[in-house]
This record gives sequence, C-alpha cells and structure tokens, in this order.
Amino acid sequence: MSVTLHRADGVVTVDVPPGHSLFQAIAARNREMITALCGGCCVCGTCRVRVLDGDPGPMGPDEAHLRRQLAITDPAIRLACQMWPGCGLRVDVIQPE
Ligand code: FES
Repeated sequence: MSVTLHRADGVVTVDVPPGHSLFQAIAARNREMITALCGGCCVCGTCRVRVLDGDPGPMGPDEAHLRRQLAITDPAIRLACQMWPGCGLRVDVIQPE
C-alpha cells in the first residue's frame, strides 16, 4: 500500500508494508519526516496528519481515547501511529507548534 505525504518541503510517497502503521512506514523511510515524541505508543499526539483523500483505515479505541484527551474534534485529523491505511490515502503531515 502506498501513501502520499504532503509536507512543507514537497510531496513524498511511502510504501506501508502489511501490518505496519503509517508512522512506522514514514519512520522507516526517514525518521525526520514526522514528529512522534512517544515513538508510536499512542501517548503524545504529536504524530498528527490531516487526511486529504482516500481510506485512512478504522479508528481504534486507543486513538479515539487520546483524541478525546487532546480535544481533537476534526475528523480529518488522525494519529499516524494508530493508522493502518487503506487505498489511495493522501495526508498532510502536521508539524507540532
Ligand atoms: S507517536 Fe505519540 S501518539 Fe503517535
């Protein structure tokens, strides 16, 4: 499965192997491409992406819980470490402020 990442410095496509999260796939290509302070443990909320198009995959209870804690209400904002993407996904990688 490939995912298109829109970043401030351009557009990149990453391959997401079966069973890997979007964060794992991005980090395998270049760890500097995404902020993920907890290393993908669904604690920090810094691995946010904005879904532009395509199938982001279902949202699990851990991601839903952290989104509530962080008051993330925009349904397009997802946590890359909790995403197992489907077809045609395009996302913006959000840099934490
Ligand atoms: S990397 Fe910390 S919540 Fe995703």
